[in-house]
Amino acid sequence: MTTVNGPGTAAWRGGDYTAAGDAWAHAADDVVAAVLAGLPGAARVLDVGTGSGPAALAAARSGARVVGLDLEPELLRIAAQRARRAAGPVGWVAGDARRLPFPAGAFDVVLSTFGVMFAPEPARVAAELVRVTRPGGRLAVASWTPDGIMGRIAPTVLRHLDTPAAADGPTRWGEPERVEAWFAQLPVTVRCRPARVRVRYPSVAHAVSVFEAKPGPIRAHRRALERAGRWDRARADLAALFAAHNRAGDGSLVFDAAYLLVEGRVGAGRAGNSAGHGR
Ligand SMILES: C[S@@+](CC[C@H](N)C(=O)[O-])C[C@H]1O[C@@H](n2cnc3c(N)ncnc32)[C@H](O)[C@@H]1O
Repeated sequence: MTTVNGPGTAAWRGGDYTAAGDAWAHAADDVVAAVLAGLPGAARVLDVGTGSGPAALAAARSGARVVGLDLEPELLRIAAQRARRAAGPVGWVAGDARRLPFPAGAFDVVLSTFGVMFAPEPARVAAELVRVTRPGGRLAVASWTPDGIMGRIAPTVLRHLDTPAAADGPTRWGEPERVEAWFAQLPVTVRCRPARVRVRYPSVAHAVSVFEAKPGPIRAHRRALERAGRWDRARADLAALFAAHNRAGDGSLVFDAAYLLVEGRVGAGRAGNSAGHGR
């Protein structure tokens, strides 16, 4: 299954996502290993907001039958190329996390690594994730937390805009109370646990250059910042944020990025949720 034509979204189109995103792709290996642990047979797995496909490819390498879905066809093409080189067959579907184009209960496992956090209408997305998971199936959603370095990048840059309110939207998925509220009326039990991934770049300057060029919220607003003559200050603040979190002493950049892993078990149709923070 390869359907890569679709709506796309300007925020995630063009530029080089992988130059930045490959540095945390190993988080997808951890999420996939956790959610597939102990599952018998070749699980049917859906990766929502798959981007260049790190989680979909990790699941395929472990023998799962995988579909990767994303709004942005360009990223799906990169994922499909990588699958040809490195993993088994994966289906790629252009689509929106708010309207998943699959029947109820189509997957044993539905996951997302730093993907659905960027979709609008989180409660609706949560309901869609649960709907397409079979009764007894598993969910795993990884999202940057608001107070971790990855969650602070957008607010650091976008506070230089006149209307910076959108900057903290995606990291709502990194807050346990908010996530539990979205799942509370759904037939699923969720557990939130903190996790982190070590990220490495050759230098702070290199990291700034890949983040300002990669598709996503910062690049989407960069032109407005440039027009206002504020881009240089925003860029300097981004470099300062990286420097403040740097654990390396050799000129490279090494930081630990905090994320929230939401793990869920879908019930047999019973409404209501029992949630726990697991920490
Ligand atoms: C930060 S990237 C994460 C990609 C990948 N999962 C990873 O771990 O590197 C976020 C992805 O979410 C996708 N996305 C944003 N909004 C979406 C939506 N409403 N439905 C599906 N995908 C969406 C973007 O196109 C982008 O590929």
